[in-house]
Amino acid sequence: MTLTDDRNIHPSADGAAPPRPDRLAPIEIAPETFVIHDTFAPPGAPGAVHMNSMLIRGAEPVVVDTGAPTNRAAYLDDLFGLVEPEDVRWVFISHDDVDHYGNVHEVMDACPNATLVASWFLCDRVSVDRLDVPPTRWRWVNDGETLEVGDRTLAAIRPPLYDSPTTRGLYDPTTGVYWASDCYATPVPGPTAFVDELDPEAWAGGFQTFQAWNSPWVSLLDEHRFADACAVIERLTLRAIATCHGPTIGASQIDHAFEMLRRVPSLPVPPQPDQLALDQIVATIESMSLSLPS
Ligand SMILES: [Fe+2]
Ligand SMILES: [Fe+2]
Repeated sequence: MTLTDDRNIHPSADGAAPPRPDRLAPIEIAPETFVIHDTFAPPGAPGAVHMNSMLIRGAEPVVVDTGAPTNRAAYLDDLFGLVEPEDVRWVFISHDDVDHYGNVHEVMDACPNATLVASWFLCDRVSVDRLDVPPTRWRWVNDGETLEVGDRTLAAIRPPLYDSPTTRGLYDPTTGVYWASDCYATPVPGPTAFVDELDPEAWAGGFQTFQAWNSPWVSLLDEHRFADACAVIERLTLRAIATCHGPTIGASQIDHAFEMLRRVPSLPVPPQPDQLALDQIVATIESMSLSLPS
């Protein structure tokens, strides 16, 4: 994966999973709502990107995305440090990218009382690889539909930008938290819990880069039509936006994030790393190999 894509194009020399920077513990961003952090920093990349997920620990606990397989042990440790596996009732997958469903089998196996909240298209696309969860444990919730989870009613709402047609975010009206899946994301210099900790210019540049790379079709959009899509989220009563690939956006920064998102179609798209960048990565790996004692 580049800083902002869903794929690792910076493999380590031995093919092992790239190392994670210092681990950031889960943070309760709203009552009984926890962001579970993962920070991915491939060798050769100038920064890092989060691979977060979330837990809503209400009357019927909801796992929101299941993290990346390369962070499996730490993810399961964090998740089951917050909730007993038998208590988990719902496992919501926002879309069919492996950084979002990467530990779905481990979670569903560990949580016998959980139902997988997906959609027809999501199950169809994941099954091309492997989906070893029987349909008797599925629940299909499409964009615009709701899910009753005991003490609250969650709403599946597609974010304005996404990289898979199966994408639905998840809105909890009892806390005002919106799980935005890939949207509202930005790369980070290292593990970062909230966007307030970022340099504002770095946030703006990273935000534009992430949205434009992850949803390259945004450059085709009419700004006014896109603003209508953005308004779907802006009309929600929000206290925080949590995203898989960035720090949480707290209440004081939400309006600024809305403004930045609306501008994405009209701003230039930074170039992605090219063959020259890959040559430099390979040269770095080779020089590291040469410097190792034989
Ligand atoms: Fe994605
Ligand atoms: Fe993603």
